[in-house]
Amino acid sequence: MTEIQITDRLIHLRNDRISYIMGIMEPGILTHLYFGKRLESFRPESILRRYGLKDEELRLKKGILNNVPLEYPSWGLGDMREGSLIARAADGGASCDLRFRDAEAADGKYRLDGLPSAYGENAKTLRVRLYDEKLRMRVTLLYAVFEDCDVITRSAVIENQGSEAIELERAASLCLELPDDRYDLITLSGAWARERAVYRRRICPGEMSVSSLRGASSHITSPFAALARPETSESQGEVYGAALVYSGSFYMGAQVDSNGAVRLQGGLNDRHFSWKLDAGETFTVPEGVLVYSDCGLDGMSAQFHTLCANHIVRGKWAKAPRPILLNNWEATYFAFDEEKLLSIAKKAAETGIELFVLDDGWFGHRDDDHSSLGDWFVYEKKLPDGIRHLSDRIHEMGLKFGLWFEPEMISPDSDLFRKHPDWAMQFQGREHVEGRNQLILDLSNPEVCEHVYQMMAGHLREDGIDYIKWDMNRNFTNPGSMRLPPDRMKEFPHRYMLGLYSILSRLTEAFPEVLFESCSGGGGRFDLGMLSFMPQTWCSDNTDAISRCRIQWGTSYVFPPFSMGAHVSAVPNHQTGRITPINTRINVAMSGCFGFELDLNRLTEEEIAQVRAAVVRIKEVREILLYGEFHRLSSPYEGHDTAWITVSKDHKRAILMLTRDLAQPNANAPMIRLRGLDAQKTYRVLETGEVYRGDELMNSGITPELPKGDAASVSLTLAAEE
Ligand code: GLA
Repeated sequence: MTEIQITDRLIHLRNDRISYIMGIMEPGILTHLYFGKRLESFRPESILRRYGLKDEELRLKKGILNNVPLEYPSWGLGDMREGSLIARAADGGASCDLRFRDAEAADGKYRLDGLPSAYGENAKTLRVRLYDEKLRMRVTLLYAVFEDCDVITRSAVIENQGSEAIELERAASLCLELPDDRYDLITLSGAWARERAVYRRRICPGEMSVSSLRGASSHITSPFAALARPETSESQGEVYGAALVYSGSFYMGAQVDSNGAVRLQGGLNDRHFSWKLDAGETFTVPEGVLVYSDCGLDGMSAQFHTLCANHIVRGKWAKAPRPILLNNWEATYFAFDEEKLLSIAKKAAETGIELFVLDDGWFGHRDDDHSSLGDWFVYEKKLPDGIRHLSDRIHEMGLKFGLWFEPEMISPDSDLFRKHPDWAMQFQGREHVEGRNQLILDLSNPEVCEHVYQMMAGHLREDGIDYIKWDMNRNFTNPGSMRLPPDRMKEFPHRYMLGLYSILSRLTEAFPEVLFESCSGGGGRFDLGMLSFMPQTWCSDNTDAISRCRIQWGTSYVFPPFSMGAHVSAVPNHQTGRITPINTRINVAMSGCFGFELDLNRLTEEEIAQVRAAVVRIKEVREILLYGEFHRLSSPYEGHDTAWITVSKDHKRAILMLTRDLAQPNANAPMIRLRGLDAQKTYRVLETGEVYRGDELMNSGITPELPKGDAASVSLTLAAEE
């Protein structure tokens, strides 16, 4: 059950497992006192004493704020740490003095204007209103607590109730104060083709952070951070996780102060950011989420996965079996015509595949990546009868039809750019900087957003499209607009995101049947913001099964299997040159939204037989693979083996995946302790006929037999005996 208790001194949010507690201190300072396992009652004295605040002297004096755990810290009045809010008055002064006004609880989950946020009925919302007298600025802190996951979501709405403009120079989404610093900071960082690798290091005095200034959450690092006790492992120990429901430039970092207390903060990246809040205007801060688990990193991920499943991903596809797809990108790149596509699709249909996706190169005069983004009309040289003709042929084969777009982009060589050069993102008088030979549209301009919406809606109405791959292949340069006045140019990166979100929310509402997959040069914009509109994200342009073990392992820290696009591609792999057996490629891709990215006509009969068998099996078990409980077992970051298991919600079926990157001669067989099973149940391994009790599988383990050779893999199905 969720509850919010508000008394004179304390505000307590909780569900059956977690508590989040704030204190109201004289003269109206909102403190953060506790986040962790559920508490029945709480006395603030002990925690305040730890910070040197005597219980008989709760009245706060200026100058000691520096040692006070604060709920939404601002700058300039005695707190010398990095704050969450910087608001500059018209006279230039940037100190901020937020005092508690009132708080109220309500049923349900708050919504945010213009921004994605978690949703759900089984939630309660808390609104805490703070006020700065001098600025005449009201800050409403928003919180939600859910019944089914150990997550607190946060946001804030900042309102200028005065008559002069206020300049917001920082407005963080979340802030968590912890009384000691015995934590490791875990982040997910990488690059194109090696996204979301796991990094873990001990925090120490000073600041450790990750951030993006790219206008996208980025390949380089994810809007996520966890603080885990040094002894916390996958299966045991305390950990706090934080993530943003946001897809643009961000900041996420932990600061250890001189007394060893920690402040974890995240939100919009405040470099090259400010927001002019005119009299009467409001600014809504992107949502942040905080997770607590005392069941290790696997426990933290379980909370994030439940959040994604029940409160982030929405619409028809949120809980539906995702179609097995074949995408033509790695099969043909730009070199295709209708005949070629139909021959690939025909083979796909024969093999039981359900969706054919036409990737880049079908529009304008696009034969390579130098032209045509923005000219979203069919390239008649390749498809003389048009997209509708192709999609009809595909549908006649019994397949669904999907199409690739990169709607946020504009090629300098495009009719659109020739007509509207001012629609490209730019700083006036600066030369364009191209990325992948293309520019980005100015989505801070509502006219451009309207154009993109109408263009997409037109295709969705006319072309028989069941699935859209929404790509975004480069990051911001000269992040500005011809339309914004100079004193608002720093608002551009966030205004771009608001424009993008407005298009996505209109499209997904108008076309609820369509399955959207988000993509950004692979997994360059894999975040809770995009997942709020599109239920799956292309995990990485790297389709090599061994690389994917690491990428999907790291991705699973926050994101569940049903959110990760994962495909079987040709060998030698186009990104790494590695040759892996087809069953390894299938086993690894099976732990996500499964598909193929190759020309099946080029496979041997034997390989096709394996593909057919995999398609049959995946259709049988995909409910479990996508929506079951996912547990990481053996880490590719610690050895040669990657193992994970997905267990059905009723614990009656499970799929175990083990992949070894390099053969280990004369080595003991890998012994893997499983997780998530029912200790009392007896399970049969369908592939081997062996029978084990759940407690043995979880406490002693199982030693699956791997085939010989490098990149060997096995996938086992466990079924509980009646
Ligand atoms: C990006 C995507 C790929 C493919 C290409 C097409 O790199 O990640 O999957 O769609 O663009 O240009």
